[in-house]
Amino acid sequence: MVLGSAAISAFSQTPGRLIFAAVNLPFDLIALREEYFTKGLRRIDLDPDPIKEFGIWFTAAVEVGISEMNAMALATAAENGQPTTRMVLLKGYDHDGFVFYTNYLSEKGRHLEKNPRAGLVIHWKELERQIRIDGIAEKVSRDESARYFHSRPLGSQLGAWVSHQSEVIDARRILEARLSELEERFAGQEIPCPPFWGGYRVKPERIEFWQGRPNRLHDRFCYTREGESWRIERLAP
Ligand SMILES: Cc1cc2nc3c(=O)[nH]c(=O)nc-3n(C[C@H](O)[C@H](O)[C@H](O)COP(=O)(O)O)c2cc1C
Repeated sequence: MVLGSAAISAFSQTPGRLIFAAVNLPFDLIALREEYFTKGLRRIDLDPDPIKEFGIWFTAAVEVGISEMNAMALATAAENGQPTTRMVLLKGYDHDGFVFYTNYLSEKGRHLEKNPRAGLVIHWKELERQIRIDGIAEKVSRDESARYFHSRPLGSQLGAWVSHQSEVIDARRILEARLSELEERFAGQEIPCPPFWGGYRVKPERIEFWQGRPNRLHDRFCYTREGESWRIERLAP
């Protein structure tokens, strides 16, 4: 059920009421709040190595069965400074960085070509946890991209060829026609990894672990790279 525009404007015009616009929303956004009850994060429990800490957190997300626990928001910035964010899937991480795959000619790819600074955010609601990663993105080797590409289902491999990601298209049927064409072209042979498709590895400079706590007094610990080691600081929530 959605509220009609009359109901929305009646809500917004109620005298003495805080006005927060929320179009087509059948409930009060202001009243929507969750309290966080986890036992919290202590400095003493953190691994000095944020990649190992990330591994501990990721394992917990796997153990509680969060769906698409590897989904993360990726922020890039356009040349004029305008940031933009979209979801991508984490496909690997180690001390060199956090890897995702995409089309290098997409909007994000074009941004990263000019400005490799990237931000990643993972939110695991079920664990009341957030992880933020800021760093520098660089392309993974062609070999690594090809290896991952060939591990994907055939449909996804073809999809990577079909989609000129982020370009305007007139209709879905253009994609479907291109798919049929490529199915024929690659029939019975290994589909090569497109030269315009591959991975980025975000080498972290800062990693923040956030744990929800009561009264919005959350726990935040930020690791900042200092050469080969990391400085750890508690941040105000
Ligand atoms: C959960 C989720 C995971 C996604 N994973 C990827 C991904 O790994 N790589 C990718 O290129 N796009 C992925 N997408 C699509 C992107 O969010 C985005 O629409 C696309 O990459 C185009 O972004 P751009 O135009 O900003 O470059 C995903 C979307 C969702 C909702």
